[in-house]
Amino acid sequence: MTEDSRDTLLPLPEHVAIIMDGNGRWAKSQGLERVDGHRVGAGSVRAVLEESRRLGIRYVTLYAFSTENWKRPEEEVVALMSLFIKHLEQELPLFLENDIRLRAIGDLERLPSEVRISLQDKIERTKHCESLDLLLAVSYGSRNELTRAFRSLSKRIEQGKLSASELTEEMITDSLDTAGIPDPDLLIRTSSEFRISNFLLWQLAYSEIVVTDVHWPDFREEELNNCIDRYRRRKRRFGGLEEVEHV
Ligand code: IPE
Ligand code: IPE
Ligand code: MG
Repeated sequence: MTEDSRDTLLPLPEHVAIIMDGNGRWAKSQGLERVDGHRVGAGSVRAVLEESRRLGIRYVTLYAFSTENWKRPEEEVVALMSLFIKHLEQELPLFLENDIRLRAIGDLERLPSEVRISLQDKIERTKHCESLDLLLAVSYGSRNELTRAFRSLSKRIEQGKLSASELTEEMITDSLDTAGIPDPDLLIRTSSEFRISNFLLWQLAYSEIVVTDVHWPDFREEELNNCIDRYRRRKRRFGGLEEVEHV
């Protein structure tokens, strides 16, 4: 990993994935409750979407709630679920004005039905939009996603529709919740932790990782642009010797 001064910069990332972390730490630093951090963090989602659209980023994936986050205290989980519903309703005009198509990835069956219904409704109402695809990772865990994909592929093998020796990487890619979406070029994690936390394990194979110490509620246009600038100074080789702009 090198972020050096160079004449040629990478093009803008086509797909940016973000682990939106640090809401609780931000709230603590302000003398507020954790849920206040989640509330202010929703404003960062709006800012990032508007800026991504302005820049011309084609895909944005936001990690909003992990399969492991279900083990948080019930009070916090309930507060997060009602925030999801509130903001899905509130941000529909933002999606439509910015030509943003919503898609959800994760173990959606586990979500309360009100969240599922609201998600489904916004997915339906934005399906004609085509400037930016927003993939919202809710109740998402990469191991869960891979397990579901392997189950569906095994079923096809059991039914004699596919033979094990014919299984390809592409078939696995196409069985994931992210089917049809190119892998993220850039993964941003806010709030300083250097870990993946069960996010897009398959899809991040060659993504550039940028960690910022800014907590998610403070992550607005300026910090998004800082992270993109850091990405653009990287060299991507994908295992080869030459620099490559995209796979
Ligand atoms: C990210 O912020 C939001 C979710 C995981 C839902 P956190 O709630 O993890 O905040 P910290 O990491 O405790 O500061
Ligand atoms: C990752 O953050 C999940 C989301 C941002 C939704 P966590 O706060 O849950 O991750 P850990 O526990 O620090 O690894
Ligand atoms: Mg966290």
